[in-house]
Amino acid sequence: MEPRRTKIKDLLSSAGDGRSVLCKGWVRTKRGNKNVAFIALNDGSTINNIQVVVDTASFDENLLKSITTGSSLAVRGALVVSQGSGQGVEIQASEIELYGTADPETYPLQKKGHTLEFLREIAHLRPRTNTFGAVLRIRHALAFAIHNYFNNKGFVYLHTPLITGSDAEGAGAMFQVTTLDLNDVPKTQEGKVDYSRDFFGKSCNLTVSGQLEGELGATALSEIYTFGPTFRAENSNTPRHLAEFWMIEPEMAFYDLDDNMDLAEDFLKYLISYALEHCADDIAFLNKMYDNELIDRLRFVVDNDFVRLDYTEGIKILMESGHKFEFPVSWGLDLQSEHERYLVEQHFKKPVILTGYPKEIKAFYMKQNDDGKTVRAMDVLFPKIGEIIGGSQREESLEKLSARIAELGIPEKDVWWYLDTRRFGSVPHSGFGLGFERLVLFVTGMSNIRDVIPFPRTPKNAEF
Ligand code: 4AD
Ligand code: MG
Repeated sequence: MEPRRTKIKDLLSSAGDGRSVLCKGWVRTKRGNKNVAFIALNDGSTINNIQVVVDTASFDENLLKSITTGSSLAVRGALVVSQGSGQGVEIQASEIELYGTADPETYPLQKKGHTLEFLREIAHLRPRTNTFGAVLRIRHALAFAIHNYFNNKGFVYLHTPLITGSDAEGAGAMFQVTTLDLNDVPKTQEGKVDYSRDFFGKSCNLTVSGQLEGELGATALSEIYTFGPTFRAENSNTPRHLAEFWMIEPEMAFYDLDDNMDLAEDFLKYLISYALEHCADDIAFLNKMYDNELIDRLRFVVDNDFVRLDYTEGIKILMESGHKFEFPVSWGLDLQSEHERYLVEQHFKKPVILTGYPKEIKAFYMKQNDDGKTVRAMDVLFPKIGEIIGGSQREESLEKLSARIAELGIPEKDVWWYLDTRRFGSVPHSGFGLGFERLVLFVTGMSNIRDVIPFPRTPKNAEF
C-alpha cells in the first residue's frame, strides 16, 4: 500500500482535501448499517480517533465481519471533510488490510468503562485504553521536558549505577542482587553468608537513590542530574508508593538551600506548564473523565509562589489547627501525608516547601544548622500528593559529616569514597530528588500511583 503511513494525529490536523492517505491502527469501535460502516481507528499518536467510512458494498463481507474492537488495520482512502459532527476529517476507505483480529468473545477490552482496578489486572493490554494512552503520552512529555529543562540550563545528565555496594543513604529497605545459589548458599567459618564468592565479591543491592554518586559528579561538573529507576523494598501498600519508581536528582555545586528551593520551584512550574501546553488534549480528557479540577489545579500551581515554611512553624500550625489527625503531631516526629496535605490543601491552599527538619528524621548528609537540632532539608509538598520532592543542602564540612556518620554507626568502609568529596576541594552544594511518578500523578490527576507507570512493581505484584 502506498503512499506511506501517516499518523492519525497528523491526519486530524490536516485539510480534508481528498488526497489519498494510508492510515494504520487499532479499532476502537465499529458501528453502522447494511450500507455503510463507521470504524473509529486509533494508533496512539493522539487521544482522538479517526473515522473510517466504509461503503460495505465495495468490500468483502467476511473481511468486514472480522473487523471488531481491538483488531488492527491498514486503511487506504481519501481524506475528506467529515459529514458528521465531532470530527473535522475522515477517511473514505478504498482499501482495507486486516493485520490481526481480536476475538470479541475473549478480547478483554471489548467493552468500554472498565474500572482502573480491573485494568491493573490486565496491565499488558491497558495501554490500549484512552486513559492509559493519555497517561503514557503525558508521562513521555514530562520525561522529555525534564531533559530539556536541564539541558537548557547546562546540567550534565549523569548515569549513576543501579547496582550498588553501599546502603549509605538509608532511604529504605533494599532489594539484594546476587548470583549465589539460594538453595546452597556458601558460608564462612562463622556461619555467615560468604559474599566473597558472590558476583561482585561483596553484598550488593539495587539502589534507592543516585544521590551519593550524583554528588561525585556535581563536585566536578558543577551541575548534574540523574534520571533513572530506583528501588525500595518497603512493604508500603499506599496509592503513592512503588517498589520500583523513577527519580530525578539534580545536584549542584555552589547552591545553598535558597538556590535549591528556587530551582525546585522553577523546575516544577516549567514541567507543569510544558504539559499544559503540549498535552492539552490528553489533560482535557482526564479533566473530563476523572478530575474536574485538574486543569485549574495545574494552572494554580504554575501561577502562584510556593509557601516557604520552617518545620517548627509547620508543626505549630498543625498542633493549633484543632484538626483531628490519624497520626500524632509533635516536634521531632516526621510528617505523614495527611499532615502535609493539611498544610497545603486546608491551611495555605498553595504548595509548601518545608525546611529545617529535625536531624533525627533526615539523612546523615544534610547540612547541620547552628542550633545543633535541625538540618537544611527541604520537602516540597503538593496538593493531593503530599511530598513530591525531598532534598537538602549537603554538609560540606568533613569534620561535621564524619561526626554524624560515627554517631549513626555508618561503617566508614561504606562511605570513604563519598567523604573524599569533602576531603578534597569540598564546596557548598545542594540537591533534591523528584519522584517521577508522583509528578505524573499530579499532572494527570490520577489517584493511584499504579496507574501512572506502565508496569507497576508493588508488593506481591510483578506479573507483567
Ligand atoms: O525523599 P527521598 O527518599 O529522597 C532521596 O532519595 C534523596 N536522595 C533525594 C535527593 O536529595 N537527591 O525521595 C525523593 C522523592 C520523594 O519526595 C518522592 O517524591 C519519591 O522520591 N519517592 C517515591 N515515589 C514512589 N514510590 C516510593 N516508594 C517513593 N519513595 C520516594
Ligand atoms: Mg523524603
